[in-house]
Amino acid sequence: MTAPLGLYIHWPYCAKICPYCDFNVYRDRGRREEQAALVRAIAADLTAQRALTGERDLVSIFLGGGTPSLMDPDWAGELIALARRLWTPAADLEVSLEANPTDAETDRFAGFAAAGVTRLSLGLQALDDDSLAMLGRNHDAAAARRAALVAAATFPRLSLDLIYARPGQTPADWRAELAQALDLGPEHVSPYQLTIETGTAFDRAVRRGRLVPPGDETAAQLYETTQEVLEAAGFEAYEVSNHARGEAARSRHNLVYWRGEDYVGAGPGAHGRLTLAGARTATYAHPKPADYIAGVEAAATGFATRETLSPQEAAEERLLAGLRITGGVGFDEVAVLGLSRIHPEVRALVEGGLLADDPARLQATPAGRLLLDHVTSRLAT
Ligand SMILES: C[S@@+](CC[C@H](N)C(=O)[O-])C[C@H]1O[C@@H](n2cnc3c(N)ncnc32)[C@H](O)[C@@H]1O
Ligand code: SF4
Repeated sequence: MTAPLGLYIHWPYCAKICPYCDFNVYRDRGRREEQAALVRAIAADLTAQRALTGERDLVSIFLGGGTPSLMDPDWAGELIALARRLWTPAADLEVSLEANPTDAETDRFAGFAAAGVTRLSLGLQALDDDSLAMLGRNHDAAAARRAALVAAATFPRLSLDLIYARPGQTPADWRAELAQALDLGPEHVSPYQLTIETGTAFDRAVRRGRLVPPGDETAAQLYETTQEVLEAAGFEAYEVSNHARGEAARSRHNLVYWRGEDYVGAGPGAHGRLTLAGARTATYAHPKPADYIAGVEAAATGFATRETLSPQEAAEERLLAGLRITGGVGFDEVAVLGLSRIHPEVRALVEGGLLADDPARLQATPAGRLLLDHVTSRLAT
């Protein structure tokens, strides 16, 4: 057994750029040559990073985006097979792929399952046509339902992404919509509160008064509704925006991030975290596909930068990630920040009901996870 390793592969192309999204994405203009070159570059990058990590137990591969369901399934299969050869696949290796629910992509699900994908993360976002149009999505609710039903029958594991706190949405609407989503058979649900990201089309619309997201009170009610409905249906909120039906349904990939385990990042704009010679190291790849490809060709690795984190920076990152999940973070892992059970801020947060009173770990309570920014700002320097 070696230390666990996750792998994130970023596929940056999307059929249409959604007006709320600020991920590293580019319009898919069907340039097959560029895309084939990107697959080769990612493969070379993985091989170069294997030399850095050495032998490791591969616990998760996550093909994210962008829209990796627009990839040729054979390309996904080549990258998955390469990763399995480079590292030692764990017996329960999780291989996730993010997909958009258009009919064209649904038709390729069987190809992705044959390529080795075991878990589909499907971006439903909403289940009514008006909301999907408002979100600028390129599919309607019927296509989203079809995609979810085919995915549930094709992959061992299915996760659904939804966006709530949409303009005009009421808790009663959201309750009914969540119940419909659960009927589609997911084992994992990620309901994200709509965030107005700087520089997006939604940001401009909000500033011009053309889009009015719900106020804080309604947003809090919608959050409470989410917790209530999912808990009643047997889904545990193991992280702020992630709910799983039982422990085995938790995303192993997310746990890599939140437990502070190592992960390789490959593809344009991908981040990685590797422990190299005992030091936590951050890697950042060039965001633009052409720069990434050129970077890999020039240096046999797509990293734009590699940076060693100081022990304080590494511990702060560990703290922020650990407080998001129910398991929390051990005091021993953040000792360099001077945090202990008797630290005055820790005591005050325990007394305020935002942290659990645990002798060995810092763990946010459900109320604390709702006020995570407040909790972390009081604990991080
Ligand atoms: C990287 S995106 C990709 C998935 C896929 N391309 C799709 O759109 O279905 C992952 C998820 O982030 C969420 N997301 C992206 N931007 C968001 C925003 N501004 N507010 C809330 N959720 C967002 C969406 O639910 C989306 O499914
Ligand atoms: S939400 Fe998904 S499909 Fe839309 S732009 Fe972002 S990554 Fe692409």
